[in-house]
Amino acid sequence: ARVAVLISGQGTNLQAIMDANTIGDIDVEFAVVISNKEDAYGLIRAEQQGIPALALTAEAGESRASYDQRLHQALSEYQPDIIVLAGFMRILSDEFVERYLGRMVNIHPSLLPKYPGLNTHQKAIDNGDEEHGASVHFVTPQLDSGPVILQAKVPVFADDDVTSLSERVHVQEHSIYPLVVKWLSQQRVQLKDGQAWLDDQPL
Ligand code: GRF
Repeated sequence: ARVAVLISGQGTNLQAIMDANTIGDIDVEFAVVISNKEDAYGLIRAEQQGIPALALTAEAGESRASYDQRLHQALSEYQPDIIVLAGFMRILSDEFVERYLGRMVNIHPSLLPKYPGLNTHQKAIDNGDEEHGASVHFVTPQLDSGPVILQAKVPVFADDDVTSLSERVHVQEHSIYPLVVKWLSQQRVQLKDGQAWLDDQPL
């Protein structure tokens, strides 16, 4: 399967997926890595692996529809089968999402449906949660609300701050995301009737 990865920053999840491919845990082709930020370190990570890497930044005042159209055009040139959102910090239009429905996944740093949106680690701490984590889900038009494919949980300790908690979550992200990419590439996981299925069992 040809995989496109969309990023905005560090790209540690991208790195984890590339590493999994290098050691043979998964078997995909990286079609392209696209960042909406020029200075995303993840672009350098992709270049280091010889993967086409490009920055596609929004023009001042550009509409979401216009940006998403350019993004779609850029992606089309690389013919991806699967779109992996790995810290891509832009909301995608419904039209874009529908185009890739069932073929696009995101990783979100919370135990969805808890805490869609931003500042998830702070929210978990503020609410005194005993556990927190990350979720990989299919992308559907409603932000961070698509069917969950896989989650990882971590404990929240009394002395945690956002840094310590987010680091603990990040480590787990790096193990669950490559696994989901593997399942997708093998067509073991699917979006059917608004639900995620693994090996023909509803998740
Ligand atoms: C991760 O915490 C992910 O859950 C969130 O953005 C962050 C991306 O981190 N959506 P990285 O760029 O992969 O290091």
